[in-house]
Amino acid sequence: MNRNLFARFSEIAYDTAGICLNENKTALLQARIAKRMRSLDFRTADEYLNFLETDESGDELVQFLDSISTNYTYFFREEDHFDIYSRFLNYWKKQEQTRFRIWCAAAATGEEPYSIAITTRETLDVNSFDIKILATDISTKALSTAMAGAYSDEKLKNIDEDHRRRNFEKFTPESHRDDRVWQVKGSIRSLLTFKRLNLAEPPFPMKGPLDFVFCRNVMIYFDQYIRRNLITEIARLLKPGGILVIGHSENLRGIECGLVSLAPSVYQKPE
Ligand SMILES: C[S@@+](CC[C@H](N)C(=O)[O-])C[C@H]1O[C@@H](n2cnc3c(N)ncnc32)[C@H](O)[C@@H]1O
Repeated sequence: MNRNLFARFSEIAYDTAGICLNENKTALLQARIAKRMRSLDFRTADEYLNFLETDESGDELVQFLDSISTNYTYFFREEDHFDIYSRFLNYWKKQEQTRFRIWCAAAATGEEPYSIAITTRETLDVNSFDIKILATDISTKALSTAMAGAYSDEKLKNIDEDHRRRNFEKFTPESHRDDRVWQVKGSIRSLLTFKRLNLAEPPFPMKGPLDFVFCRNVMIYFDQYIRRNLITEIARLLKPGGILVIGHSENLRGIECGLVSLAPSVYQKPE
């Protein structure tokens, strides 16, 4: 792919989703677009770009963003955040809080929001509280995997037998007789709502106030301008005392949003 073409594709990724693709991502972008082109029967990237730019329905833009997004994730990634989350749930429960609103802002294929829901169920008697966990992502493909809530043995490798039994149901799909698949139990899935949402386009439609926001390992794709707008909006949506966790490799340096750092990747809105 030549430089001009790459520049045009990366401009679309930035303008529509805030995703920054440096030139060292050319090969990656090319491989991902090639797959989409094959399924549409286009032979050149020029042809595909023209199709993408002239598709007034916006459907191809959704497909394009699906194909370039990196959905890498796993259950209980950066595990300390789930301990912190559980501690805050207990603290708020002691203060007689009964309504909890949680947001998982880059839910990918679901492992993160289900880890949140499992932690919630292991911390609180969920039937005695008003709990809603919103899980959003820009990728419709990732979200449909998330909504199905079914994972292979391999994906569950860091969940011990006891946790599996409590939170998942095992089944063997007709089409893959040798595979075992684990589906998240309905009682956990019912805590969650999945929605497509573009983090690069605040303000967001949620009413808030939110108690706890997980916005992890997505800001790495954004520049400082998109990050600042995103974090300012999260700070607005949090309740006083509410918590934001970001990825271990991320930081809020240079972003004045009024949140106070409790630990390197954990922030609180002052009471
Ligand atoms: C690397 S995954 C991180 C998943 C999870 N938060 C974790 O920490 O394991 C990044 C996710 O961010 C999503 N994403 C990228 N740009 C986005 C945007 N503008 N709005 C919403 N989600 C976005 C991608 O689709 C992908 O699922």
